[in-house]
Amino acid sequence: MIAFQDVTISFGEKTVLRELSFQAEFHEKIAILGGSGEGKTTILKLILGLLRPDRGRIIIDNQDITTMSEAELRKIRMNFSIVFQEGALFDSLNVYENVAFCLREHTSLKENEIEQEVRRLLKRVDIEDAIYLMPEELSGGMQRRVAIARSLAACEPKMILYDEPTTGLDPLTAENICSLINELSEGSPPDRKGFIAVTHKVTDAAKVAERFLFVKDGKIEFDGNLEEMIRTDNGTLKRFINELLILGDSHV
Ligand SMILES: Nc1ncnc2c1ncn2[C@@H]1O[C@H](COP(=O)(O)OP(=O)(O)OP(=O)(O)O)[C@@H](O)[C@H]1O
Ligand SMILES: [Mg+2]
Repeated sequence: MIAFQDVTISFGEKTVLRELSFQAEFHEKIAILGGSGEGKTTILKLILGLLRPDRGRIIIDNQDITTMSEAELRKIRMNFSIVFQEGALFDSLNVYENVAFCLREHTSLKENEIEQEVRRLLKRVDIEDAIYLMPEELSGGMQRRVAIARSLAACEPKMILYDEPTTGLDPLTAENICSLINELSEGSPPDRKGFIAVTHKVTDAAKVAERFLFVKDGKIEFDGNLEEMIRTDNGTLKRFINELLILGDSHV
């Protein structure tokens, strides 16, 4: 379980989150929507304890992480894997080495076991053929797949955190990544691995998430399912999801 309780964080003069609160279970499929600079990436960093709030509490698995030591936080981070914004692969390492890097960091596997595990992970994201290519030789969608495989190599997470998983991809490739996100969270709650995907791509969010949070001015302005979001009377959210509303109309 994740709980934000009145979380406030500022950078210099700028207050990014203001007494923001929400609760989520690890098996939930959540999209956090919001404009650029509204604090979406900041929320993910707070969950991982990479940032600490100025005020308020963040509870993960019944433990308050806001006062934890770095060693305790490392254990908390094992609950999650994160796919950073833009994939962020190591440019000088090939696909194999990018994924193996995390296994070398986090496990004591022997080289032949590492190779087996890298192949298994690449197969899982359907990109095994690219094993010896360099990041620059991959398309944006392939890079995103490798980034997802790499994040899964870090640990067997209870929840995956995606930062803008489809931003910058063409519609078909984005659709592909959405399918992969759904596959990795297959099954029924509470046994499945959930995710939090932060994104401003509402149509992609609608393809993967069951619950939607809309962040505006440092607060959660909306929290509900797709149907509720489409029927929202929040003017800003309505404009934000306009694309979705137009698509909805065309189906009628
Ligand atoms: N480490 C930092 N130091 C100073 N300012 C920061 C830092 N991290 C974030 N900010 C500021 O906090 C605000 C929120 O940043 P954040 O990256 O969380 O936004 P975002 O919603 O993820 O935006 P985007 O959609 O563009 O990725 C921005 O104004 C940003 O400049
Ligand atoms: Mg961001």
